[in-house]
Amino acid sequence: PAVYEHLLVETRGSVGLVTLNRPKALNALNLALIDELVAALEAFDADEAIGCIVLTGSQKAFAAGVDISMMAGYSYMDVFKSNYLGANWSRLTAIRKPVIAAVAGFALGGGCELAMLCDFIIAADNARFGQPEVKLGVLPGCGGTQRLPRAVSKAKAMDLCLTGRMMDAEEAERAGLVSRVVPLDALLDEALAAATTIASYSQPIVMMIKEAVNRAYETPLAEGLLFERRVFHSAFATDDQKEGMAAFLEKRTPVFKHR
Ligand code: CAA
Repeated sequence: PAVYEHLLVETRGSVGLVTLNRPKALNALNLALIDELVAALEAFDADEAIGCIVLTGSQKAFAAGVDISMMAGYSYMDVFKSNYLGANWSRLTAIRKPVIAAVAGFALGGGCELAMLCDFIIAADNARFGQPEVKLGVLPGCGGTQRLPRAVSKAKAMDLCLTGRMMDAEEAERAGLVSRVVPLDALLDEALAAATTIASYSQPIVMMIKEAVNRAYETPLAEGLLFERRVFHSAFATDDQKEGMAAFLEKRTPVFKHR
């Protein structure tokens, strides 16, 4: 993998691991870091040997938000004309392989939004989530007001966005924002194990699942169910459906061709 200034990028078997690495600023997201993140995730997305991606930060911070020192001087014209944080973030949502966020420490503002943009979040017991933009005289700008109410509830999303308070990992799991909470020392192993499991399955099927679950956010139920059924039917066109079902009936482990 390429060398980046603000990221560590490595492979662990069939898993791509991206570590945000701007420790001096608690991984605050500046434009250079976001550009690198887009490049790293798109490179893993294009790499046939990679079946799943894990995105993590440090033990102290996943990311403490968009870089405030960068934003402080911007004018309306600066952010409007550059579509600030618009184009880059859309590219992150276009990644087709699953991306797991392994979150320890602070995931605030753009950091929380980045974690929510991933397909699911595994949190360390020291994780803290929040949308503190209100304290800075702005509002969430990378999906916080939209993804948070879909992930938790209107009540909790309003509470977090309006007060700017943080919620801990336990509250985040109870609210449905994170799929699992594990001890800090076990975080990376747990995320890599989940990613390795996902990467052992048929890659096109995994992509279809990601696409279908994401449809649930974009469409009415009847349309989503139709989309799911069409994609389900198309799975029968793959060798991997034949292999997966044959292996079950023959009581052996499947060896998927398109891993
Ligand atoms: N941007 C720039 N620098 C940041 C930063 C951020 N979002 N968060 C932390 N840092 C820097 C601090 O300025 C500090 O730098 P110096 O050592 O040079 O002073 C360094 O990281 C360490 O931070 P602290 O000394 O503050 O560490 P702490 O442990 O005392 O506090 C914290 C940790 C509670 C996370 C605190 O740093 C904090 O509140 N950070 C800001 C969180 C925030 O407001 N995030 C939202 C940003 S706005 C946004 O993201 C917009 C959007 O939705 C699009």
